[in-house]
Amino acid sequence: DTETDKELYQHFTDLVSTWPSSESMSFIPLYRHVDGGWHSSLKPMVGAMVADARFTARPSDIIVATLPKSGTTWIKALLYAMVHRREHHPADAVAHPFNSLGPHECIRFLEYQLYTNDRVPDLDKLPDPRLFATHVPFASLPSAAAASRCKVVYVCRDPKDNLISLWDFANKFRVRHGQEPVTAEAAADLFCRGVSPFGPYWDHVLGYWDAHVERPEQVLFFRYEEMRLDAAAHVRRLAEFVGVPFSAEEEEGGVVDAIVRLCSFDHMSGLEATKGGKTELVIGTVANNEFFRRGQVGDWANHLSPEMARRIDAITESRFKGSGLRA
Ligand code: A3P
Repeated sequence: DTETDKELYQHFTDLVSTWPSSESMSFIPLYRHVDGGWHSSLKPMVGAMVADARFTARPSDIIVATLPKSGTTWIKALLYAMVHRREHHPADAVAHPFNSLGPHECIRFLEYQLYTNDRVPDLDKLPDPRLFATHVPFASLPSAAAASRCKVVYVCRDPKDNLISLWDFANKFRVRHGQEPVTAEAAADLFCRGVSPFGPYWDHVLGYWDAHVERPEQVLFFRYEEMRLDAAAHVRRLAEFVGVPFSAEEEEGGVVDAIVRLCSFDHMSGLEATKGGKTELVIGTVANNEFFRRGQVGDWANHLSPEMARRIDAITESRFKGSGLRA
């Protein structure tokens, strides 16, 4: 009931409030989850803990997992368009739900949108397959999700581009809250010390990578840069992974390319839902166009000094060594 739900949120809020916190790139401090070792602002961390306690999983559930600013909006769009391709033909762009709903409304975050505001959502009525998203590390996924055979789609991105995207996004929040923007170098220093949302970056990526290596049929592992090189191949792998491969007829009809075009940066950023829409997150309201900045690979070079880039690369090399994961 609502009183018990409220008490659960209060319980975790009290607990997290005793944990170490530090200044962050954004306008709110980040807490360090003492068991998981990851960072988050208070409300999403509490939401993740409530989700862990209350979420009930189905084997047919599909969970998108990412670090913030690593391509979440894109993979949500691709997954949603792919899964719903029969009801909403991707070539019929004019009638597609994306015209009125942004990707973050089509696939909602557990800790930013569903387990928020002292409420435990009723997700039982949602039809199969239910699509959710989260930023929490693999080890902190809701225990019911981990126990069920539900599928996880992970996307990671080059840490330098991920950082620059994060830095820009965080500064927009700062400015809106009347604070001075932080420099890219200061943001990079925080990032290297692991003080980034759901960071350390390297722990997050390695956690999902190890899970993927152990159970490839349950955890899919994509890289933003590779998606940029061949999005169609990734859409096909996504469809096979969730058990709805494209038929020969669909292939001939160009359905895969239609999904890629529909979800492309250029198409999505021009939609009314992007230009005029908003997404309510527990940390504040975000205009949908803020999820689209440049969508390029290597934009870090315009913002980071060569020394800082080397520092980040050195951490990546040493942390990924022996994992089978390329730096
Ligand atoms: P940049 O800031 O480098 O442009 P997230 O979706 O996880 O918040 O990540 C946002 C990043 O993904 C931004 O990167 C954004 O421009 C990029 N992005 C958003 N939609 C995209 C799309 N359809 N295709 C490629 N990149 C996209």
